[in-house]
Amino acid sequence: MPAMDTSRFLFCLLPILFLMINQALGQVPGFLYHFCINKSGNYSTNSTYQTNLNRLLSSLPSNESSNGYGFYNASYRLNSSNEHIYAIGLCRGDVKAEDCRSCLNNSRYALPQLCPNQKEAIGWYDNCMLRYSNRSIYGVMETSPSFYMWNKNNISSSGLDGFNQELSKVLASIRSETAAGGSLRKFAFRNTSAPTFQTIFAFAQCTPDISEQECSDCLVGAFGDIPNCCDGKEGGRVYRPSCYFRFEVYRIIDPTTVKQLPSPPPIHSPPPSTNTTNTSQGSKRSKSRTVIIIVVPIIASLVLLMFVGICLRVRKAKKKLQSNLIPGEDADEIGSAESLQFNFDTIRVATDGFSEANKLGQGGFGSVYKGGLLNGEEIAVKRLSVNSGQGDLEFKNEVLLVAKLQHRNLVRLLGFCLEGVERLLIYEFVPNASLDHIIFDPIKRAQLDWDRRYKIIVGITRGLIYLHEDSRLRIIHRDLKASNILIDEEMSPKISDFGMAKLFGVDQTQGNTSRIVGTYGYMAPEYAMHGHFSVKSDVYSFGVLVLEIVSGQKNNFFRHGENVEDLLSYAWKCWREGTASNLIDPTLTNGSRNEIMRCIHIGLLCVQENIVDRPTMNAIVLMLNSYSVTLPIPSQPAFFRDSNIGSDMSLGWKNSSEVITTGSDRSKSNSVKAPENEVSLITEVHPR
Ligand SMILES: *[C@@H]1O[C@H](CO)[C@@H](O)[C@H](O)[C@H]1NC(C)=O
Ligand SMILES: *[C@@H]1O[C@H](CO)[C@@H](O)[C@H](O)[C@H]1NC(C)=O
Ligand SMILES: *[C@@H]1O[C@H](CO)[C@@H](O)[C@H](O)[C@H]1NC(C)=O
Ligand SMILES: *[C@@H]1O[C@H](CO)[C@@H](O)[C@H](O)[C@H]1NC(C)=O
Ligand SMILES: *[C@@H]1O[C@H](CO)[C@@H](O)[C@H](O)[C@H]1NC(C)=O
Ligand SMILES: *[C@@H]1O[C@H](CO)[C@@H](O)[C@H](O)[C@H]1NC(C)=O
Ligand SMILES: *[C@@H]1O[C@H](CO)[C@@H](O)[C@H](O)[C@H]1NC(C)=O
Ligand SMILES: *[C@@H]1O[C@H](CO)[C@@H](O)[C@H](O)[C@H]1NC(C)=O
Ligand SMILES: *[C@@H]1O[C@H](CO)[C@@H](O)[C@H](O)[C@H]1NC(C)=O
Ligand SMILES: *[C@@H]1O[C@H](CO)[C@@H](O)[C@H](O)[C@H]1NC(C)=O
Ligand SMILES: *[C@@H]1O[C@H](CO)[C@@H](O)[C@H](O)[C@H]1NC(C)=O
Ligand SMILES: *[C@@H]1O[C@H](CO)[C@@H](O)[C@H](O)[C@H]1NC(C)=O
Repeated sequence: MPAMDTSRFLFCLLPILFLMINQALGQVPGFLYHFCINKSGNYSTNSTYQTNLNRLLSSLPSNESSNGYGFYNASYRLNSSNEHIYAIGLCRGDVKAEDCRSCLNNSRYALPQLCPNQKEAIGWYDNCMLRYSNRSIYGVMETSPSFYMWNKNNISSSGLDGFNQELSKVLASIRSETAAGGSLRKFAFRNTSAPTFQTIFAFAQCTPDISEQECSDCLVGAFGDIPNCCDGKEGGRVYRPSCYFRFEVYRIIDPTTVKQLPSPPPIHSPPPSTNTTNTSQGSKRSKSRTVIIIVVPIIASLVLLMFVGICLRVRKAKKKLQSNLIPGEDADEIGSAESLQFNFDTIRVATDGFSEANKLGQGGFGSVYKGGLLNGEEIAVKRLSVNSGQGDLEFKNEVLLVAKLQHRNLVRLLGFCLEGVERLLIYEFVPNASLDHIIFDPIKRAQLDWDRRYKIIVGITRGLIYLHEDSRLRIIHRDLKASNILIDEEMSPKISDFGMAKLFGVDQTQGNTSRIVGTYGYMAPEYAMHGHFSVKSDVYSFGVLVLEIVSGQKNNFFRHGENVEDLLSYAWKCWREGTASNLIDPTLTNGSRNEIMRCIHIGLLCVQENIVDRPTMNAIVLMLNSYSVTLPIPSQPAFFRDSNIGSDMSLGWKNSSEVITTGSDRSKSNSVKAPENEVSLITEVHPR
């Protein structure tokens, strides 16, 4: 896609453009990049603040504020008020002390000049980083502002997979090593050489004032920017205030100048400096394979304008593409389980400790929390509350398979997390509520005019066809219902909770099961009563859903006038009496009556008692798309609710609307405990 490449190009250009503009204006030697941070406010020229900032910055490159390993930290309390000024400097792990001081000395002039009167600013040179602020920045992990650069040389497409594999490995290992570096320095470097690919040299560094976990989280987030910056490139780097990393296919670190950490070397100490053949860092770098593009500032500003436009769109698109924590892994590869595995602490942080405030709700199998990854990506985390009875390996393998199911009408599974008894599933976050929160809400329902509802029906159909036919796995959802349909910002539907049976090790192929997973009212009678399931049991649930969408009423609480009846009985009665239009949600004032009636018809075909008579999802999409397809006359739907339902069941787990029965004894599983009233069960305790 040319637009994508252009934007990537421009992204890379941005820092350089700034650099060049600064230089063109005759200013101090430029940073790789810098940010003037507006939100902390301004100080006025010749104020005491300015004097003290200067004083503080001049003291920074001194022995007192250094920890001896390239980290500098100082603060100053203003005389007049309670306000402080804080500054942090960090040199790359292999930069010699005198070079480090001189880099910081340059920064201390450059940064205030580039950000006049700003209380907060940050700038990066190749060798060092300087930041200051009037708020405490010591010991605080920060991921923004951030920028990235890349090497303009491409990896040959034939070598790309191998390269990415090696890169993920090397990055993963320097991440843990960096994080484990200790309180003096968090820095690690490594090279790799797969036989057929170029050697990859990489390093990472965190400010040592943050914890091991924070460092690791920061780097994970930074690695997450690789798809934006340097996917398929020979080199790239991402800088954040608390961490940064870089990789190239040539040597970028001089191992001989990396100062040894004192005394008991941590277990993950950097590898002993390799017996290098005289580093050629300097000359290589001056040849500079990194991007050097000469553009006159005038052109630059034009390009910049273009960039802003494209950038906004493309970033969004890219974000969607960006999937794995450690990019470059193809989901098709067997070994990618690790890349789908999230660290428990990362998720704990992302969800604010699974706080009530972040709880989105109670879905099948556990609570769902909203979370934000450090790279800004929003996620939904399902904390499983049912023991799957599967081993870790099996679970991982199933996650891998389910994560491969990707379709625009399916909620995407991004990964998982295993820690002790905790099992978490991490999904993309879908901003709007689930369908039940909209369609059954007397006010919000009005947002959904017929065209939107029709689009939702078609979307669900497509998602189900993918699950049933197109994906390699042939997934039967088994718990399709309004609360499992999420609505995105464009009001199109995404099916969630698919593949749960698979993740729980419940037999997934067509057949019988002693473990029933589903929701009363949506379950096909043969499944609810006898545990027989097939794609046609999903079709049944789909039919119920369609009738709910048309009527705007829940299947078990259909109101007409004073009466409450169940939706299917009422629909069938109306159909037989020729008054099916009574079923239509009165708020649907426009929209094609024909289309609506056709959907009612299709809904009724789906819920027929005879399994063979129910259409397949493929047939349904034809019926929806083409009026020339004559619809068969539906027969009476199954009313399994009418049969007397025993309540004496081995109930594995339940919540507001789900029932899972775990009857190991087949004879027991022919009845299901139905919640009498969905709402009253919300506060069920979930056994662990
Ligand atoms: C900087 O912040 C002030 C308020 O503190 C705001 O009025 C101004 O627009 C900001 N400038 C930029 C460039 O964001
Ligand atoms: C701070 O200074 C910048 C540049 O001098 C200016 O654009 C901005 O409006 C100022 N903000 C405030 C709140 O004074
Ligand atoms: C700041 O002080 C310098 C020297 O003392 C003076 O030349 C300059 O005009 C002053 N600027 C302001 C804005 O007061
Ligand atoms: C800092 O310490 C080094 C040796 O540890 C010494 O050579 C240097 O003079 C000191 N600099 C200052 C400014 O104290
Ligand atoms: C860095 O600054 C913080 C806050 O001023 C202070 O608590 C800490 O002791 C300092 N650390 C070093 C190594 O100077
Ligand atoms: C700073 O504080 C000292 C004593 O606390 C006071 O004597 C001095 O005048 C103050 N200086 C300024 C510039 O406020
Ligand atoms: C710091 O930089 C300034 C100007 O760039 C220079 O005059 C000064 O000598 C430098 N100081 C040190 C200690 O390098
Ligand atoms: C930093 O300065 C701004 C603007 O003067 C002020 O609003 C803010 O409270 C200060 N922050 C701290 C932590 O003092
Ligand atoms: C890298 O690939 C992009 C397209 O993928 C192309 O536009 C660019 O020219 C290539 N760069 C080099 C140095 O080959
Ligand atoms: C890569 O590192 C290993 C030790 O970790 C070293 O033996 C090897 O020579 C290095 N390769 C290059 C090209 O520097
Ligand atoms: C280091 O290099 C020398 C000569 O280049 C060689 O004899 C020695 O074995 C090397 N040591 C290691 C650990 O590779
Ligand atoms: C690197 O090589 C140059 C000449 O090629 C030699 O003068 C220098 O001593 C070597 N440095 C090291 C650290 O081996």
